[in-house]
Amino acid sequence: MPLVALRIQQTGRQHYHVHSALLSGSICNPRRTWRGAHTVVASGLGGMTPTDGAHLAAAAQRVPSVRTELAATFRTALHSAFPAISVEPIVVATNQARHGDYQCNNAMQLFGRMKGKEGAPKKPTDVATAIVDALPASSMIAERPTLAGPGFINVKLSHGWISERIHSMLLQGIGTWAPPFKYKRAVVDFSSPNVAKEMHVGHLRSTIIGDTLARSLEFCGVDTLRINHVGDWGTQFGMLIQHIAETRPGGLEGTTTEEVSDLQKLYKESKARFDADEDFKARARAAVTRLQSGDTEFQETWRRICEASRNEFDAIYQRLGVHILWRGESFYNPVLKSLVEELIERGIAEDSDGAQVVWVPKEKVPLMVRKSDGGFGYGTTDMATLRQRIQDEKAEWLIYVTDEGQAGHFKLVFGAGRRWGTIPEENPPRIDHVGFGLVLGADGKRIRTRDMGAATRLVELLDEAKERCKGTIKERRGDDISAEELDESSSIMGYGAIKYADLKNNRKTDYKFNFDEMLNLNGNTAVYMLYAHARIASIVRKVGKDVNEVAKTAKLSLDHPAEAALGLQVVRFTETLEDMFIDLAPNRLTEYIYELANLFSTFYTECKVAGSENEDSRLLLCEATAIVMRQTLSLLGIKPLYRI
Ligand code: ARG
Repeated sequence: MPLVALRIQQTGRQHYHVHSALLSGSICNPRRTWRGAHTVVASGLGGMTPTDGAHLAAAAQRVPSVRTELAATFRTALHSAFPAISVEPIVVATNQARHGDYQCNNAMQLFGRMKGKEGAPKKPTDVATAIVDALPASSMIAERPTLAGPGFINVKLSHGWISERIHSMLLQGIGTWAPPFKYKRAVVDFSSPNVAKEMHVGHLRSTIIGDTLARSLEFCGVDTLRINHVGDWGTQFGMLIQHIAETRPGGLEGTTTEEVSDLQKLYKESKARFDADEDFKARARAAVTRLQSGDTEFQETWRRICEASRNEFDAIYQRLGVHILWRGESFYNPVLKSLVEELIERGIAEDSDGAQVVWVPKEKVPLMVRKSDGGFGYGTTDMATLRQRIQDEKAEWLIYVTDEGQAGHFKLVFGAGRRWGTIPEENPPRIDHVGFGLVLGADGKRIRTRDMGAATRLVELLDEAKERCKGTIKERRGDDISAEELDESSSIMGYGAIKYADLKNNRKTDYKFNFDEMLNLNGNTAVYMLYAHARIASIVRKVGKDVNEVAKTAKLSLDHPAEAALGLQVVRFTETLEDMFIDLAPNRLTEYIYELANLFSTFYTECKVAGSENEDSRLLLCEATAIVMRQTLSLLGIKPLYRI
């Protein structure tokens, strides 16, 4: 069952009823995979480095999430109490400590199913009692679960069990906490700006969200191909090349990449001519044909234009620390003609006023695969991406990250892919269009970058964030920081702030780009998280012990309520990632880390670490918190700071 089909009910911040398929193993089949060793295949593709997956090669075993493990215990209880009825355990984290740590919510549902039958229980709480009575002995549950309301079963986890789990992670690495997947290979199509047009804030969003999804998959050991589906083909090139040919002194032959580097200007000039001058328009159209038929000079100029664009884009990727493989639309050119012919031959595509279109059940408009002038468009190319990624790349999970405005396009593409059979009916790959909302200016209006050279604007946004952070850090550290460290720290903080401010929103909603807010030291911001991490690092430094050595001998205990609350949040790392993957929502990660930082802050206010009699145990808890914090930051594409 594809995960997108799962029903997820939001019951409060951070708490989700995850219906049966997740727990029963559609994402992960605990019994089959959690003990399995995972080999990581580094992607090894042009310009890409395997980011966080490498640790997994060494990770001996993965442990299931706390929620999954508890659900397995309840599955046993449900089966032994009601052998005749097959249900999946519904186990969720509670949102109030007085309800315990987790709840099992099957009693009401089971009661409903048995109602009216012979010997049926009289009330849901009787069902709940029977489930509790049937629970197998388990070291993870602290005491006999209590009942609440109409039949909720409230579970408190054993502090000893939580500490042991944290302790093993300290010894074996955070890689053991990556949720296991049945998918081995994924393709994430993200960023994907257009050559010679603007790389606008929408592309920045796609870059940030896509990078986090790719990092998360890589962390889980999924071999992930990051694709930049750059718009590097289309009629605009005819206009650009023709304009260059007519205006450069040396014509096309003498033109260098340098000379075409002001692409915004070139684009504007040639577009103005194209719109105003019919003769130029005709020459531009002819230029498209010459380009498509493989004219060497035209192709060479096209290549130069792409290269100039690429230099601009790369400067942004480099700052953001994003690796991505450039595989533009032109990559698919060679297969488009035969692809459409096949669709026509098989009766999947049909004529519509001279164009060829594919109708998809329930959709009001068809997907155009060949224009009436014989040209191919965006839809045709995306049919080709589907086939190439499923058949050649062997992707079991395909993700396309674009603005929500393209949701309709992808519905058609996926629907047409199913009719075509490229998306097989049996064992289909998981396919998601990950849409996102607009970025608005502080005035609540859409940020328009068209007229001002958008790439330049993006660079300016990055610059401003960095400069502001430089100011803050300098104020704090005064002369006690070298120029290099200041530069490095302010980049991490500034770019991190932009990424975090984007990722913390539900991706489908629009959000306001606001520097003051994203750089706030005390809110749900990257800056706050980086401070929290640096604070932990300074505590660890202050204790002055080798944490790895301490972990080998000392015991971790969670006696104080603030320690217990923090410990519980630490071990919830794995299920947070599971939730993130259900609807591909990076804001689950920011919610998690925000709560983690807050609980750490309470712990630190209430519990002395250095010099206390629990020093070793608390040192280990600090270190574990820092590790999950760093890992979560890394999934968000943010480097940690150890000193601010
Ligand atoms: N270049 C497109 C745009 O700027 C995004 C491409 C997304 N990827 C895809 N396979 N269609 O909107």
